[in-house]
Amino acid sequence: MTDKIKEFIVEAREFHTDSKEQLEAFRIKFLGSKGLLKEFFAEFKNVPNEMKKEFGQVINELKNTAEEKVKSIHEMLESKEESKGGYGDLSRPGEPMVIGSRHPISLVKNQIIDIFSTIGFNVSEGPEIEDDWHNFTALNLPEYHPARDMQDTFFIQTNPDVLLRTHTSSVQVRYMENNKPPIRTISPGRVFRNEAVSSRSHCIFHQVEGLYIDKDVSFADLKQTLQYFTKEMFGKSKIRLRPSYFPFTEPSAEVDIYWGLKTETDYRITKGTGWLEIMGCGMVDPNVLRNCGINPDENTGFAFGMGIERIAMLLYQIGDIRMFYENDVRFLEQFKSSI
Ligand code: DAH
Repeated sequence: MTDKIKEFIVEAREFHTDSKEQLEAFRIKFLGSKGLLKEFFAEFKNVPNEMKKEFGQVINELKNTAEEKVKSIHEMLESKEESKGGYGDLSRPGEPMVIGSRHPISLVKNQIIDIFSTIGFNVSEGPEIEDDWHNFTALNLPEYHPARDMQDTFFIQTNPDVLLRTHTSSVQVRYMENNKPPIRTISPGRVFRNEAVSSRSHCIFHQVEGLYIDKDVSFADLKQTLQYFTKEMFGKSKIRLRPSYFPFTEPSAEVDIYWGLKTETDYRITKGTGWLEIMGCGMVDPNVLRNCGINPDENTGFAFGMGIERIAMLLYQIGDIRMFYENDVRFLEQFKSSI
């Protein structure tokens, strides 16, 4: 019996074919459910005990030889088919494609750009590493001006002239230095402040700055523009302008939007007033125009600045600003359906 099996081992070892059908016939003969191996394994119980060991070894060898033969010929035939340029079954389902999502900050930024470009604003950018002139001095914040403390600044090394911009108002200055009125521009960008990180504030965040300079630009134009913006952005156009102070605008105001008091969340975020502060704005101070090479006797203008995170938090009801920077896919995936 073992000799017979040994003959089959030789047969299996020497087997070769180029045809799938013959390979299948080989497989059925040796490994099929009614094949030789089944037969020999069934025989095992009739083998005298002293021969069981040897018998077991040869049938195992036959099994391994046959299995390896089938595998290697199968692989050989497959690779031949591929190199012939065959694509296999073209009707098979494709690999599922993982589609990413846009970051909510980008979504809101793009929405703001769309809204302002409709009324003729272009988009401008400036560097994140700034000098003192563009971030402070030109904006009517000379050295030792107390209002510099309103924004805790990251300085680069020990050189007080090189810093990370604390606001996108620096781009206003650069834009005015390089362009003549009429100017209508918005400047989205990342800004940095040396502040403790909490659920409400972060040391890195984003702003959009707006600037409009022309002949006879008035405060009424500012209000109208902001009203148009809040209507488009939030579907709400009831706003109020509260007198405030910024060194680069005179007069200055803080813009509140009437959010309403319909839900409990409305109560919480508006502290029961229904009003929410969303940006700062004002008429560009004549000193700033002069610093940037624009004649304040011929031109006037308005400017505004808002935080993108704050707007995204309101729109998407996000309770913690840190979510934007953690790159947790469970958070980011929720924005898949937004454009
Ligand atoms: N730069 C101000 C800030 O970061 C925001 C701001 C207020 C910008 C009034 C303006 C403005 O252009 O007119 O807090």
